[in-house]
Amino acid sequence: MFPTKTYQQRRKKLQSQVKSGLLLIMGNEDVGMNYAANTYHFRQDSNFLYFFGIDKQGFAGVIDLEEGTETLFGNDFTIDDVVWMGAQPSVKELAAQVGVEKTAPYSDLEKTLKKAKEAGREIHYLPPYRHGNMFKLSDWLDIPVGQLKEKASVEFIQAVVAQRSYKTAEEVLELHNACTISAAMHFATMQAAAPGKTEANLVGIVEGIASSAGAGLAYPVILTTDGQTLHNHFHGNVLKEGDLVLGDFGAESQKHYAGDLTRTYPVGKKFTERQKDIYNLVLKMQTYALNALKPGVPYRDVHLLAAKKMTEGLKELGLMKGDADEAVAAGAHALFFPHGLGHMMGLDVHDMEDLGEDHVGYSDTIKRSKQFGTAYLRLGRELEQGFVITVEPGIYFIPELIDKWKSEKQFANFINYDKVESYKDFGGVRIEDDVLITKRGFSILGKTVPKVLEDVENVRAGI
Ligand code: GLY
Ligand code: MN
Ligand code: MN
Repeated sequence: MFPTKTYQQRRKKLQSQVKSGLLLIMGNEDVGMNYAANTYHFRQDSNFLYFFGIDKQGFAGVIDLEEGTETLFGNDFTIDDVVWMGAQPSVKELAAQVGVEKTAPYSDLEKTLKKAKEAGREIHYLPPYRHGNMFKLSDWLDIPVGQLKEKASVEFIQAVVAQRSYKTAEEVLELHNACTISAAMHFATMQAAAPGKTEANLVGIVEGIASSAGAGLAYPVILTTDGQTLHNHFHGNVLKEGDLVLGDFGAESQKHYAGDLTRTYPVGKKFTERQKDIYNLVLKMQTYALNALKPGVPYRDVHLLAAKKMTEGLKELGLMKGDADEAVAAGAHALFFPHGLGHMMGLDVHDMEDLGEDHVGYSDTIKRSKQFGTAYLRLGRELEQGFVITVEPGIYFIPELIDKWKSEKQFANFINYDKVESYKDFGGVRIEDDVLITKRGFSILGKTVPKVLEDVENVRAGI
């Protein structure tokens, strides 16, 4: 937990950002995996963590903007709970840790909300994503489950985004810690890969390092020799000489801040010539993108710059043709780079995605593209000092997408399908780092993980 005043200041600011009514922030509950008492790993809601800090199930917070009060709703543990779980702090003690004076039993929450509703007061809530909270909100606020997301308070969402987008020094330190643990996870797997080992063997190293650092995982591990599948969670392949391993994983710090790094390296000691060409092109895309980062620059433009650099490089390799600007404007690059260049990162790996990507990543002036590929860009708006973002270009050869586009003759004026055919067994390359936008540019978070091609080969060769 951060110092008490951090949470007090965040809530105080929130009170000044929303005009009137009640602000409701739901914490999360344990969720049964295969029966109620055998639960999934508990993860507190990030908005609740941000404003109320308590990393335990069964809580909710209400800020009454007219009364100027803050109330923590939750139940004290019974002696039965203590028998199974050990001694626990009381609700009052937890509330004091985060500077909240008023507490109430959880069952009072329903009464409080119903009373406010009867009095015609506005109850602001954030879009729910857990079914348990959806059922409660639906019941208490008399809103059909299917309408809960659209009826969430835009004013409240915008207030939360306006705070959480700008990382404070204590948050940057946490993110730096998460990235440093993530870097150790990546370095260890880069060293350990070898023909005959399995992807699962390497995933074990990733999870072991996270656990032994007292951390968790910010998202399920992507570690695969089938890097063309963007979010590949299958870990059953045996590593073979000639394969590339794409590892995209990150730690979650003890205070639940994320790291999100990607490295791609050969199973053998060296990249093949064909792999070198594509790898160096992805690295070039990232270098150009990083050097373009500074406050005021729309991230959409940085994404398009990376796409243009890729197109120019693929033209040199004979995979694309025509004018690079025209190819990118038409969306032809998305055959090879079908995702966005990056996203905000903080308490969530895709920070605040529960609040709606467009509220976080777009603005009144910069709207999401509808074009395949660029439409997946989660962050398009102008960068500002204090944002923490990922920079993660990639080049992929997705056989099913190639077959589809080829049969439809899509962008035949920009894509040399005959040459692309010969890359259908290539897989994919992605390189991802996490950066803080500073006053004049950016700084990379966490310890560095080798990414210059020769440095990666040196790690693979044990040098
Ligand atoms: N780890 C998922 C992503 O890079 O967005
Ligand atoms: Mn990632
Ligand atoms: Mn990412």
